[in-house]
Amino acid sequence: MMTKLSVNINKIATLRNSRGGNVPNLLKVAQDIQDFGAQGITIHPRPDERHIRYQDAYDLKNIVSTEYNIEGNPIKKFMDLVLDVKPTQVTLVPDSVDAITSNAGWDTISHQSYLQEVIAEFKNNGIRTSIFIDTDEKLIEAAAKTGADRIELYTEQFASEFENGNKDAVKPYTNAAVLAHDLGLGINAGHDLSLDNIQFFKQHIPNLAEVSIGHALISESIYLGIENVVNMYLHKLQG
Ligand code: PXP
Repeated sequence: MMTKLSVNINKIATLRNSRGGNVPNLLKVAQDIQDFGAQGITIHPRPDERHIRYQDAYDLKNIVSTEYNIEGNPIKKFMDLVLDVKPTQVTLVPDSVDAITSNAGWDTISHQSYLQEVIAEFKNNGIRTSIFIDTDEKLIEAAAKTGADRIELYTEQFASEFENGNKDAVKPYTNAAVLAHDLGLGINAGHDLSLDNIQFFKQHIPNLAEVSIGHALISESIYLGIENVVNMYLHKLQG
């Protein structure tokens, strides 16, 4: 299966915001990343707007001609934004307001009815839904009951163990992907994926539909240039 690369551009917004002007130009970067071959753009607006601003989410709607993925915790302000912008996909993440970055997947068992409600609302508005989640079987079974279209496997643990040489760290992800596929869920993945680990990950995850990658991709681009880096990811995702 072809795996789409969705580039998370939060870091571009962070850089822009650090000087208060419009350099780098977030919209131009998003356009260029798509021209370089990426098949999606991801943003994660946070309530304090410290990187992506809510206005960016609207402005990007006119620029993103590939898959537009908006991530976040479905508090009211976020839901209103997503229902207004109508991206291709919304990825639900249970991050607290002050989290530096997403640091946990959903407990789909205790939040099942809440997720069901939120997901139904997005789906009624034609927005594909994905739930950020760990590899635990019971959580994935419960995710299927929420009505979500996809799960996004939270890959932080894989990435850190892989870096330490533990290739077996991918096994729970392989098993989770097989189960999710059997349950009719599509499979995305993200967090700490990089040029070092993406090919190995892709080769071990059946039916991987999309990866969203931000921090490593932008950091690698400082040395290698963003056009090169996007192409390197696309190449590694092919096989
Ligand atoms: N997926 C989710 C749900 C995230 O919150 C993030 C980080 O914002 C990513 C993927 C991308 O992670 P990274 O920046 O480490 O590539």
